[in-house]
Amino acid sequence: MNIELFRTLMSNWPTGVSIITTIHEGQKFGFTANSVTSVSMSPLLMSCCIKNISTTLEAIKASQKFTINILSEPQADLAKSFSKHDKIDRFEDVKYSTSSNGHIYIENILGHIECTVYEIYPAGDHNIVIGTVQNMQFDDSKKPLLFLNRKFHNTSQIS
Ligand SMILES: Cc1cc2nc3c(=O)[nH]c(=O)nc-3n(C[C@H](O)[C@H](O)[C@H](O)COP(=O)(O)O)c2cc1C
Repeated sequence: MNIELFRTLMSNWPTGVSIITTIHEGQKFGFTANSVTSVSMSPLLMSCCIKNISTTLEAIKASQKFTINILSEPQADLAKSFSKHDKIDRFEDVKYSTSSNGHIYIENILGHIECTVYEIYPAGDHNIVIGTVQNMQFDDSKKPLLFLNRKFHNTSQIS
């Protein structure tokens, strides 16, 4: 199979961009993800695909919860920062708040979706993580950050 063709085709299909966060034993984890999608309306389920080697995946398995922070237009730098494998503290200089039930909300996002783990399925070099939606928030004054052709875009640039 032609992996380069697969990569090119998928990169020409626009997505939104999120940062998936969790807290385990007091430590914060988070990474940039665009494989997020809704799964079911009854019950409300979301999914994302996470690399087997992801440190955040291990933390989600342990904490059994995660937050999908859906990024807004001016947050491309955050998306870049949370995808750097070697960055020691990704939350440094990031505005966020935490809840007593272990969720992390990044500020100025389009919205967030709090999930508890419903099921995790191994799938090749990724795991499909399905979450039950427990809570959500949406700021209709914001516009989504988009990812297309391996670059970040504002809605106005492609509409
Ligand atoms: C726009 C964008 C989307 C990404 N989407 C995903 C994704 O859906 N799943 C994934 O495992 N990695 C994705 N990545 C790569 C991760 O952000 C990157 O591998 C990160 O270092 C993983 O962090 P962790 O190992 O601490 O969990 C994406 C990166 C970018 C820039």
